[in-house]
Amino acid sequence: MENFEFYSPTCFVFGKDTENRAGEYVKRFGGTKVLIHYGGGSVVRSGLLDRVKASLDRESIPYVELGGVKPNPRSGLVYEGIDLCRKENVDFILAVGGGSTIDSSKAIAAGVVYDGDFWDFYQGKRIEKALSVGTILTIAAAGSEGSPDTVITKEEGMFKRGASGDAVRPKFSILNPALTQTLPAYQTAAGITDIMAHLYERYLTNSEEVEVTDRLIEGLLLTMAHEGPRVIADPNNYEARANIMWAGMVAHNNTCGVGRSQDWLSHTIEHELSALYDCAHGAGLAVTMPAVFTYELSHNVMRFAQAAVRIWGCQMDFAHPEVTAKAGIEAFRNFLISIGMPKNFEELGAKEEDIPKLVDVLCHGDGRDGTISGFITLKEDDCTKIYKMMV
Ligand code: NZQ
Ligand code: ZN
Repeated sequence: MENFEFYSPTCFVFGKDTENRAGEYVKRFGGTKVLIHYGGGSVVRSGLLDRVKASLDRESIPYVELGGVKPNPRSGLVYEGIDLCRKENVDFILAVGGGSTIDSSKAIAAGVVYDGDFWDFYQGKRIEKALSVGTILTIAAAGSEGSPDTVITKEEGMFKRGASGDAVRPKFSILNPALTQTLPAYQTAAGITDIMAHLYERYLTNSEEVEVTDRLIEGLLLTMAHEGPRVIADPNNYEARANIMWAGMVAHNNTCGVGRSQDWLSHTIEHELSALYDCAHGAGLAVTMPAVFTYELSHNVMRFAQAAVRIWGCQMDFAHPEVTAKAGIEAFRNFLISIGMPKNFEELGAKEEDIPKLVDVLCHGDGRDGTISGFITLKEDDCTKIYKMMV
């Protein structure tokens, strides 16, 4: 295991009706003027926004609102949010929605207290200072409710890039699994896929002797394999949704990633798909992961064989471990298809003729040097081969 520091100070408030306590938690964490940030309208239709406002009113906390965050959130609304917060003297951002809304909130929070262009953070500058952020989560997926990360798409060039810093870890996150019951099945499945990707991307490590995090990841992947189909079959199953929601947080606040190198090639390669085609990030991952894993397999056959045996119940073929390793990837792919995820470019809405453009932005866009690294290092021709495997 490698040396690490783990700092995860978010206060999690979990369970039924907890959104009604939003005002109480804003007050506890020092907010005196709030920006309520939300997406395309699901929180308006469900009545959640009204309940959150009522909760702030009960604590006499003033607020302004900014809706309209799109999935794969854009830079334009972030600039708008930064201007609004400065004009209105906002000191607390309350994200009501999914990963996109939370990431947009984090970007605004960092941008308000920064003199330069907030995009600097998405080109490698660490976020050291930000307004406080709180979240009320409506979809189990990105894990942004407990992570120091934010992913934004810059409209000029459609670069989808991430930024990070403990300053934007939410002060509190309210997680009521019942709020996720209004999700369309496709979004629920995309969320399940994203959570499993966050686990796999950590499982694929070059570090030795990481038993505790290996076992945590395996346990969470087994949970997802069990609860995923239950919730797809019965969207109102509160208990299954509760297990998935907490798994989504634990999968990505780095509890499972400490002391080990991590992969993230599937995410890096997928981000170009959701940037270009505006597909759901989880759906893009469903198509990307089997191809990336197959490409990575020869780098460490035993790691993939271990996943196959421990997570997917495959028989170990001791004479041919690569057979077991491949069977595990196939089992994962079939699982994703079974919950309704796309299996190739066509089903995702991606086009083979765009591959040169995807590879160019992936390897050279916005200051990249021609390679991307994770479990292995990939050059342009590797990335081309991987995208072709998805066709
Ligand atoms: O915008 P509204 O109307 O709210 O609709 C949303 C949106 O269309 C809808 N939705 C959310 N909760 C709902 C609901 N519809 C009905 N009922 C509910 N309860 O679902 C759609 C997707 O929402 P979004 O916020 O985009 O989903 P998700 O949480 O999957 O976030 C995806 C974004 O997070 C980034 C992704 O790249 C993508 O941009 N990620 C962020 C990470 C992080 N910050 O740590 C890590 C991840 O790997 C990921 O990259
Ligand atoms: Zn993800």
